This record gives sequence, structure tokens and C-alpha cells, in this order.
Amino acid sequence: MPFGWHGKKVRLVPLEREKHFENCVRWLNDPQVTAWTLVGDFPLTRLAEQEFFDRAARTSDTEVVFAIELLGEDEEHIGACGIHNISYRHGVGTIGLFIGRPQLWNHGLGSDTIATLTRYAFEVAGLRLLLSEAMSENTGSLRIHEKCGYREIGRLPGRYWKRGAYREAVLYATARHEWLAQTSAAP
Ligand SMILES: CC(C)(COP(=O)(O)OP(=O)(O)OC[C@H]1O[C@@H](n2cnc3c(N)ncnc32)[C@H](O)[C@@H]1OP(=O)(O)O)[C@@H](O)C(=O)NCCC(=O)NCCS
Repeated sequence: MPFGWHGKKVRLVPLEREKHFENCVRWLNDPQVTAWTLVGDFPLTRLAEQEFFDRAARTSDTEVVFAIELLGEDEEHIGACGIHNISYRHGVGTIGLFIGRPQLWNHGLGSDTIATLTRYAFEVAGLRLLLSEAMSENTGSLRIHEKCGYREIGRLPGRYWKRGAYREAVLYATARHEWLAQTSAAP
């Protein structure tokens, strides 16, 4: 039976303690996975992650969080994503994601996750504008935003201290009308 929001390669499903918790603790404490993320520079304790899971278990007006699983028989857990800082008044949210298994990077899973999350945000959650950002060094992340139709709207030099230097942030946005124009033009 279909479960969650399906893309071409992944599905977005509710976070579950049994299936997703240990992976999230491991991945978010892995310096390779968090090389260019805002989380990951300080130890993420089980207690803190438990609080995050507890929050995600309740319906929230400001945040929607999903585990990312592969479509297929074993529905392998590969990461997490979400829409954060949601304002339904303004119709705006900020997306984020990570694929926790580096051996699966560059297989189109991040792009499919953003595409699926974007469709969910516009068609299901009713938002009209999505924001995102990535550090300039995060080539894979820049690429997936561009592939999924996000527009670069600016750069903030030296925005974040990360692994020994102040890093530039690349800011992205996509509006529902832009996304609709692109998806209806796609073959
Ligand atoms: C960023 C991330 C989500 C990308 O996911 P992914 O599954 O690797 O993404 P995809 O495979 O869909 O696309 C990656 C694209 O970047 C390209 N890419 C990756 N590294 C690259 C590099 N060093 N130079 C040029 N292109 C690069 C790939 O070729 C691919 O583009 P293509 O499909 O045109 O060939 C994943 O690497 C990740 O989770 N990283 C750790 C957490 C993180 O950084 N999250 C994002 C925070 S903003």
C-alpha cells in the first residue's frame, strides 16, 4: 500500500523512533555528512535528538519533518528533510535536507527529495514561496537546488563560521507560480 509522499526514487514518511532514530543520531554526528550543514559541529546527544523526535511527533504550525526512504522493497532509510520556519500567514517556509549515506550521494536522491518536498509544500501544505540556502563550497547542494528550479537570489559573504573559516551563503527561492510553470513545461 502506498505510504508517504512519493518521488521517482524516494518517499517522504513520518519520522519513526524504531526505524529512523539511531540513524539520525549517527549521521548528524558524522563530520563527513555535516561538512557543510549548520548542524553537526557540536555533539548531538540522544536526549536532544529525542526532543526533536518528540516535537516532530506532534502537528506543528511551523515545521514539517520527514524521513527519506528509498522506494523499493526494503524501503531503506537514507536521510531526513523538512520545511522549517513556516508562516502560513505569509505562505513561506524554508527547506532543508540531508542524505546520511555518503555512498549514495550523486545518485539523484537529493534532487528527487527536493522535488518531492517542493511539490508537497506547494500542493499539500499550501505554501506559495520556499526559501533555502547552502554554503558556496557545498557543490552538490548548489546543484540540486538549481536542478529543481530554485533561483539564486543572493549571496552573503562570510555568513557562517564552518570548519575553520567564515563561509559564503548562497540564498535560494522558488515561488509556486514559477514551480508550476516549470513542472507543466517538463516532459
Ligand atoms: C547535498 C546533498 C543533499 C546532495 O544529495 P545527492 O543525493 O548527492 O544529490 P544528487 O545526486 O541529486 O545531485 C548532486 C549533483 O551535484 C553534483 N555534484 C556533486 N559534487 C560535485 C562536485 N564536487 N562538483 C560538481 N558537481 C558535483 C552531482 O554531479 C549531481 O549533479 P548531476 O545530477 O547534474 O550530475 C547530499 O550530498 C547531502 O546530504 N550532503 C550532506 C548534507 C548536506 O550538505 N545537506 C545540504 C545542506 S544545504
